[in-house]
Amino acid sequence: MADSPVSHHSPESNEQEDANSNQRAQMEQAYQQMQRKMRMSKMSEGIRHKIMVLSGKGGVGKTTVATGIALSLARMGKKVGLMDIDITGPNVPKMLGIEGTELHIEDGQIFPAIGPHGIKVISMAFLIEDPDKPVIWRGPIKLGAIQQFIGDVAWGELDTLVIDFPPGTGDEPLTVSQTLPNLDGVVIVTTPQEVALLDSRKSINFAKTISVPVLGVVENMSGYNLSGNAEAGAKFSLMGPTGVPIEVTASQDGKWSVNLDLFKSGGGEESAVELEVPFLGRLPFDPGVVRGGDDGVHRIVAQPDGETAIAFSKVVEEILSSLEKGDIHQVKIT
Ligand SMILES: Nc1ncnc2c1ncn2[C@@H]1O[C@H](COP(=O)(O)OP(=O)(O)OP(=O)(O)O)[C@@H](O)[C@H]1O
Ligand SMILES: [Mg+2]
Repeated sequence: MADSPVSHHSPESNEQEDANSNQRAQMEQAYQQMQRKMRMSKMSEGIRHKIMVLSGKGGVGKTTVATGIALSLARMGKKVGLMDIDITGPNVPKMLGIEGTELHIEDGQIFPAIGPHGIKVISMAFLIEDPDKPVIWRGPIKLGAIQQFIGDVAWGELDTLVIDFPPGTGDEPLTVSQTLPNLDGVVIVTTPQEVALLDSRKSINFAKTISVPVLGVVENMSGYNLSGNAEAGAKFSLMGPTGVPIEVTASQDGKWSVNLDLFKSGGGEESAVELEVPFLGRLPFDPGVVRGGDDGVHRIVAQPDGETAIAFSKVVEEILSSLEKGDIHQVKIT
C-alpha cells in the first residue's frame, strides 16, 4: 500500500497543534495563578486578622453573627471587611441592605461594596444576575471561584476580615484555609439544642484538622428576655415556654426581668468547657434580629444600645482578647 502524502493537516500535526495550544493554556493558567498568589500574599499583608465563622448545623445564625461581629468591630473604630463565601445562598448583602450593589472593577481587581459603619463587603450575591435562580457549581469550578474571589479583591488595609460560610465543614472552609495564609481562628456558632451542640464538635475537629485555632464558641438564640414594671417587691408567676411556671419578684424600684430558655440554655458554654475551647458568650433570641435580617437593617444598626448590640460587643471583646493573646488552643476531641 502506497504511503499517503503528508499534509499540514495530518492527524499527527493536528495532535501537535492541540498539544501546543494545551500547553499554552496550561502555562497561561499557571501564570495567572502565580500572579493571583502574589496578589494574595500582598493582600494578606494588609489584613491584620482573619476570622472564619463556622457552624456544624445550618440556620443557627452564622450570617447574623458574622455580620454582627463585623458591625460591632466597625463601631469600635476598626477597619473591617466581610467576605460571604456562601456561594449557593449568599445573604450577607440582604442582611446589610446593600443588595444589588454594582461592584467597581479596575485593573482586574474587584472593589468591595461599602456597608453600614463603613464595612467592606464582598459576596457572590453581587455577581449573580438573577438572585432567584439557584447557582449550581460543580466541585472544581466552585473551588476556582472561591480562589478567584479571595485573590482578586482589593481590600486595602484592614484590622479584621470576617468570613461567613455555608453550614458544615465542606469544601468552602477547606479551600479558604488552603488559599488564605495566616488565618487567626475560627468562631463557632451554635444554638443551645443538643443536635447543634453535637455538630459544633465537628467544627472544632475540623479546625484542628486544618490547623487553625478555635477562638471560641458563641451560643446564639440563647434565651428570650422578658421584662416589665410592677409594684415594688411584687411576687407573681409567669407561665414558662415549657409549661413550667416561673416565679418572679419585682425589685424595690418595681422592675422585673426573666430570661426564658426557649430551647434550653448553657449548652454552648458546657460544650466549650468540655471541648476545652473558650466560650465567647450568649446572644439572646431577639425577634428584632429576624425583622432586621428581612428588612436589611441589622439589629446592631437599628438599635445600637439594645440588648443584642450589647451582647455582640461582649462577644467581640472576648474575640479581641483571644486574638491579642495570639492563643493557639490545643483542642481535645472526645
Ligand atoms: N439571636 C437571634 N434571634 C432571633 N432570630 C435569629 C437570631 N439569630 C439568627 N436569627 C434568625 O435565624 C435565621 C437564620 O439565621 P442566619 O441566616 O444568620 O443563619 P445561618 O447559620 O447563616 O444559616 P445558613 O446555615 O442557611 O447559612 C434568620 O431568619 C435570622 O434572622
Ligand atoms: Mg448563612
